[in-house]
Amino acid sequence: MIEIAILGLGTVGGGTADLLESHKESIARRVGDEIHIKYILDIRELPESPYYDRIVHDYNLILNDPEVQIVAEVIGGSHPAYEFTCQAFDAGKHVVTSNKEVVATFGDELLARAAKNGVRYLFEASVGGGVPIIKPLQTDLAANDILEISGIMNGTTNYILTRMFGAGISFAEALGEAKAKGYAEADPTADVDGIDACRKIAILHAISSGQLIEPARIHTEGISAIRSEDVRAARSFGAEIKLLGRTVSCENKDTFIMVAPFLIDEGCPLAHVHDVFNGILVRGSAVGDVMFYGRGAGALPTASAVCSDILSLAKGASALPLLTFARTSEGPTDFGFFSCRRYLALKNTDENAVRVIFGANTSVTPDEESDELWVMTEEMTENAFLQSVSRLESSGASLLSHIRVY
Ligand code: HSE
Repeated sequence: MIEIAILGLGTVGGGTADLLESHKESIARRVGDEIHIKYILDIRELPESPYYDRIVHDYNLILNDPEVQIVAEVIGGSHPAYEFTCQAFDAGKHVVTSNKEVVATFGDELLARAAKNGVRYLFEASVGGGVPIIKPLQTDLAANDILEISGIMNGTTNYILTRMFGAGISFAEALGEAKAKGYAEADPTADVDGIDACRKIAILHAISSGQLIEPARIHTEGISAIRSEDVRAARSFGAEIKLLGRTVSCENKDTFIMVAPFLIDEGCPLAHVHDVFNGILVRGSAVGDVMFYGRGAGALPTASAVCSDILSLAKGASALPLLTFARTSEGPTDFGFFSCRRYLALKNTDENAVRVIFGANTSVTPDEESDELWVMTEEMTENAFLQSVSRLESSGASLLSHIRVY
């Protein structure tokens, strides 16, 4: 019997408990041993919970019980999740988590602390919800240099954008629906402003490069500025708008990391990732493009990933690859040098002025309904773009939208 404890009986904690209970027998068959939830730590009493008999409020009970080998930290937020994780390692217990905030912020330190105590720290559920991405990067794609990871990594924003494109509902209505379905973070600004996707791309970058870059140093934009005119403009270009987390290694060794909305041509598989689904495209030096697709949020999909880590540990922790992250103050490359095509919506200017500044090959489409100019630029760096916009604005033009093209 393998005894475990779950910290937090919220959406993911509840899903994890339900999955382990409902699949007790098949899990025991696959692992060769039974996995038993001995404790669930929660600050609430929860008398109606089917797990009431296992709910405890004092973490020391778990720490001091030598039978508990694995702790599933599914509390969310940095504190006390970080402190609880440290204490579990020091007590000789493995920790699995869905907590991207803790992994992206303290991953280097926690992995080192786990290794020092001879235990493991696994976090498959921290990126992609139920989609396996961390283990495949560590194992199946280990013989590749990872040239690019570009993915829709936030289910809430993808759900909102899908509803804005498909049902024509407002941003606020779509956010309300996402919250009701349990996709959004407790504070949905983390979803909408790209903070959640930023933590996730920081983790994937760290897995693929070994270097943990502080989320604060990653260029991050959200989706709240996307207007219904941008949705119409994207459609007119045969594209969808998606919030992407990206890490891109260029031939000249530049590395760019970002979270931002992108216009994605309908010919690209990422454009067809809808609703709460995540889609993560990985470009390996040997394998080429590989795409990971599935439900990126919600109780059972995320619990599926938490359970996969519990099962891996139950089958034998020593067989798992040992992971380390080094915190680096170097890189990524200055975002000012990132180059791509760009869609712009402009007012108070004309086609000639736009072409004089952005180049003769720039495509400019007047939209009669909004009285805007929809512009598609050639490839240009962020720095060149900012300079050009400032020239245009000094002649009285207004920039209403700027969305990069994938
Ligand atoms: N709020 C997150 C999302 C949950 O919408 O993707 C899963 O990390």
